[in-house]
Amino acid sequence: MNKSEQLINEDSKYFAKPGRIKYYPLAISHGYGATLVDVEGKTYIDLLSSASSQNVGHAPKQVTDAIKAQVDQFIHYTPAYMYHEPLVKLAKKICEIAPGSYEKRVLFGLSGSDANDGIVKLARAYTGRPYIISFINAYHGSTYGSLSMSAISLNMRKHYGPMLPGFYHIPFPDNYRGMFEHQNPNTIEEYLAPLKEMFEKYVPADEVACIMIETIQGDGGLLEPVDGYFETLQDLCQTHGILLAVDDIQQGLGRTGYWSSVSHYNIEPDLITFGKSLAGGLPMSAIVGRSEIMDYLDAPAHLFTTGANPVSCEAALATISMIEDQNLLQASTDKGHYVRKRLNQWPEKYKSVGNVRGKGLSIGIDIVSDKIKKVRDPEAALKICNCCYDNGVVIIAVAGNVLRFQPPLVITYDQLDTALNVLEAAIQDFETGKLDNYDIAGQGW
Ligand SMILES: Cc1ncc(COP(=O)(O)O)c(C=O)c1O
Repeated sequence: MNKSEQLINEDSKYFAKPGRIKYYPLAISHGYGATLVDVEGKTYIDLLSSASSQNVGHAPKQVTDAIKAQVDQFIHYTPAYMYHEPLVKLAKKICEIAPGSYEKRVLFGLSGSDANDGIVKLARAYTGRPYIISFINAYHGSTYGSLSMSAISLNMRKHYGPMLPGFYHIPFPDNYRGMFEHQNPNTIEEYLAPLKEMFEKYVPADEVACIMIETIQGDGGLLEPVDGYFETLQDLCQTHGILLAVDDIQQGLGRTGYWSSVSHYNIEPDLITFGKSLAGGLPMSAIVGRSEIMDYLDAPAHLFTTGANPVSCEAALATISMIEDQNLLQASTDKGHYVRKRLNQWPEKYKSVGNVRGKGLSIGIDIVSDKIKKVRDPEAALKICNCCYDNGVVIIAVAGNVLRFQPPLVITYDQLDTALNVLEAAIQDFETGKLDNYDIAGQGW
């Protein structure tokens, strides 16, 4: 047994099943930039960025130095009772970089999940309304509030229901497939019809607190909306006094080329959540929004003992500085264009590539068994991922069949070329039957 096998064997004895969606047996030793090194010493190009939580890459000196310096000062004192400078500096910085022309406030947490729970509390309290609407295939997190907003996997619902009351889900305005896997995308009006029917028959619009969106539905398959949908939805929200919230936990902080993915659309949400890459991968999330909503509740309505700990705050400040200093927002856009120049040819070139989509370095490659009918091919996607892994590239599939192309923003052009060569060869190998014997049992979402 090699080191990886030993570690994974040990892992299975102590780490419980619900905590990991299995892909291939990558046991990580360390990383730098967009490179990962496994416990055997083999290197990989990372196209997953630890689920978009390593936008500034692995172990960047600017961030590790900031963490080390803060650890020597004090590791934590809870903001639930006292004050510290790293929190103040970070809250101010987040207010500056977040979109929205209004006066803002910030609340901190430890995970994307708890930030989205905070949205539920704030929206319900401020509006005095009970209902929350989100999208089918959304992933907002793993705690009961964020889970109740999610609608992506029965494994996130089975055996421990009921979810929180008062949550409804509507179709995401996918611009590749239509509702119910229909071949063609629907129109804005068609996508909004279920919501309008809801408002007419069983959910009074003036009792809805908030509609929560992911601008690009991440784990749902990197789905992009049909043009103009979010703007129309915002109008509808304004008509009915409903708050608009954006979960920018996966798409924020440079992933799509802006601080917030909201900047791609003509909308101004009332509340936004950030997480994942915010503190370079240390546990941290933030809710930022209109001051009158954020300040509405009194303490201790939303606080966490170890929230906004100064080590995470300093890591976040260094992460944000690094994005500024290295112009990583522009890098995301430029590298995204570079990758897309090549990827955009693949739907014509390969029968298994149905669609390529996304913004900046948040790209989805939709693997299909029938391009006309857009039939998903999760097996093919997993085989391609496994082949990439064997050849030194880390990539996974979401929504079963969509390759998730989200490298650290610091990835080099050479690495992008190598990764694309490996990925293209894997697709060719799949199409020529060379991956037929890959064992993908038990893998994937
Ligand atoms: C869009 C989105 N929201 C929320 C979350 C949950 O974040 P966390 O796992 O930090 O709780 C995720 C995680 O994948 C996500 O992609």
